[in-house]
This record gives sequence, structure tokens and C-alpha cells, in this order.
Amino acid sequence: MESTDEFKIAGFEENHRDQVIRLWDRCGLIRPWNDPNKDIDRKLTDKNGAFFVLLRGAVVIGAVMVSYDGHRGSIYYLAIDPDCQSRGLGKLLMDHCEAFLVDLGCPKINLFVRRGNEPVMKFYEKLGFEEDAAVPLGKRLIPDT
Ligand SMILES: CC(C)(COP(=O)(O)OP(=O)(O)OC[C@H]1O[C@@H](n2cnc3c(N)ncnc32)[C@H](O)[C@@H]1OP(=O)(O)O)[C@@H](O)C(=O)NCCC(=O)NCCS
Repeated sequence: MESTDEFKIAGFEENHRDQVIRLWDRCGLIRPWNDPNKDIDRKLTDKNGAFFVLLRGAVVIGAVMVSYDGHRGSIYYLAIDPDCQSRGLGKLLMDHCEAFLVDLGCPKINLFVRRGNEPVMKFYEKLGFEEDAAVPLGKRLIPDT
């Protein structure tokens, strides 16, 4: 699916903030240890990445954070409003992110699917992703709470 007159991909703007947080909430992406406002503020300091929203008119119906660290690309907070899912819009946003990363010379994307959200693996498999032989490790540096 290509970008159409009905849907437009744009860069995040401050007036999208409340809608994006509501979208993440509706999509089950908010966790108590991640303050969504702080996550947005931090993303806005990212000089190499992008924070895209998918708009129908002025309404945010999708969002995604993408970044390139000079070695790998990453994707976070991909969300399509539940009322608009299964219409190719998740793929549309991911295709946009892939094109953005390829333009930067990024050779590979790493992304995480939370345990408990395994059904979404099928979506990523359709897009050509496969499980890596690597165990993700994390260490919190700044607590949000
Ligand atoms: C994951 C998500 C973004 C997918 O968006 P979407 O707009 O529904 O996906 P699309 O319609 O573009 O689907 C693309 C393909 O994946 C398939 N697909 C999507 N979700 C699927 C699922 N849960 N199970 C099986 N296949 C799925 C579609 O059938 C479609 O296949 P096709 O090309 O053969 O028709 C959306 O379900 C979502 O926002 N989920 C909640 C938030 C989330 O979990 N985000 C990811 C965090 S890692």
C-alpha cells in the first residue's frame, strides 16, 4: 500500500503528543516504568532518527520511532489504531522506516517484541524479519518513576 490522499505520513509535532500517547495506550504499549511523555521528550533530542506519525486528516492513527546508531537501525513504539488495523497501514509505516534507514546507509534493523506480545511476530515475519540468535540484555540508567 502506498501513501494515499486518505493517509499521510508526517514528522511528529508537539500538537500530536496527546493523540500519540492515547494511541500507545489503546495499543497496549505503555508500561509503568516508561513515562510516555519522557520517552517523547527524549526522542525529540535524537538527531539521527525520526518520529513518524500516520495521519488521517488531523487525526493520528499510527506512529513509530526509528533510529540509526551508525551500526544498526532500531524501531520502537510501532502502533496502528485498533480501529484501523489489518488494512496494510502497519506495513506502510514500516516500509517508510526501512526506506528512511536505507537512505542513511543502515544495513540492518534490530527490534524487540515484548514477551506476551508474540502474535505480533507474524506481522514482522510477513515483513521479512526473523528471530536473531541473540539474547537481548537491558540495564536501566534513568528510572522514570
Ligand atoms: C503490529 C501492528 C502495528 C500491525 O499493524 P496492521 O496495520 O494491523 O498490519 P498490516 O495490516 O500492515 O499487516 C501486514 C501483514 O501482516 C499481517 N499481520 C498483521 N498483524 C498480524 C497478526 N497479529 N497475526 C498474523 N498476521 C498479522 C497482515 O495480515 C498482513 O499480511 P498480508 O500482507 O499478507 O495481508 C498493529 O497490530 C499494532 O499496532 N499492534 C499493537 C501494538 C504493537 O504490538 N506494536 C508492535 C510492538 S513490537
